[in-house]
Amino acid sequence: MSTATSRMIFLSCAIFIQLFALTTTAQPNFQYCADTGNFTDNRVYESNLNQVLSSIAADTKITYGFYNFSLGDHPDEVHAIGLCRGDLKPEICRTCLRNSIQEIRNLCPTQKEAIVWYDNCMFRYSDRHIFGSLETGPYFWMYSMNNVSNPSEFNQAVISILDKLTSRAASGDSRLKFATDSTTTASSQTIFALVQCTPDLSMEACRECLTNTTGLFPQCCDGRQGGRVMAPSCNFWYEKDKFYN
Ligand SMILES: *[C@@H]1O[C@H](CO)[C@@H](O)[C@H](O)[C@H]1NC(C)=O
Ligand SMILES: *[C@@H]1O[C@H](CO)[C@@H](O)[C@H](O)[C@H]1NC(C)=O
Ligand SMILES: *[C@@H]1O[C@H](CO)[C@@H](O)[C@H](O)[C@H]1NC(C)=O
Ligand SMILES: *[C@@H]1O[C@H](CO)[C@@H](O)[C@H](O)[C@H]1NC(C)=O
Repeated sequence: MSTATSRMIFLSCAIFIQLFALTTTAQPNFQYCADTGNFTDNRVYESNLNQVLSSIAADTKITYGFYNFSLGDHPDEVHAIGLCRGDLKPEICRTCLRNSIQEIRNLCPTQKEAIVWYDNCMFRYSDRHIFGSLETGPYFWMYSMNNVSNPSEFNQAVISILDKLTSRAASGDSRLKFATDSTTTASSQTIFALVQCTPDLSMEACRECLTNTTGLFPQCCDGRQGGRVMAPSCNFWYEKDKFYN
């Protein structure tokens, strides 16, 4: 299997114990350390990476939750993207990114490309150009251990709200492509949902990313009270209780 193909496949399936815990812990929900190259012999790459990471960690100007920094020339170029959940205040966002930056270096110490996903943010870097590029893999999902009592009605309502939110998020601007809403089913079950793309994607790319990612709902989350799918360029999350601000 080529690297390009294996990057698209499902990587892991984590069971959700505390789905709406908002506190950031040091460990990510999931990490991806790519097997596309190490920088053990390349001090220039490592130095560029460390500089990019410290610039992002030190930034206090960006207030809209999206960070893209680049440094260096091929083959030592480093590109990094940080994305916070769209409803978070800048300080909470920065705390999550600073923690991610520390953890990504611990977890993926020599990889030229890596991603970490948290409840509050996602952080990635690569030696490839990643700004503006739609990537739906690798992805992973989490789901609630609890099931709903009438799954067909509930599933339909989740699919429908995710579809509506996809259009709203896709029409966002270059700083924020994020949408949240809630709905109540005929049997009075409430659903809170959010979807988000990295805002460097075009409207079409954001729509495609979310369409593909929310298309995993039947596999990940059929009849589950809560669930999430996280990809590099977009993600969705729903719960029966409110979990966003
Ligand atoms: C990178 O280093 C790790 C750990 O030493 C090794 O397992 C992996 O095969 C290396 N990857 C490449 C692409 O050289
Ligand atoms: C983010 O990426 C865009 C497009 O490559 C670039 O124009 C912009 O300068 C980048 N921002 C930073 C802070 O690197
Ligand atoms: C929820 O449904 C799944 C799949 O049918 C089942 O394996 C699981 O045990 C159920 N969970 C609970 C808490 O009943
Ligand atoms: C999205 O799904 C469609 C249909 O399966 C597929 O052709 C396309 O390549 C996918 N796009 C991405 C970016 O994964």
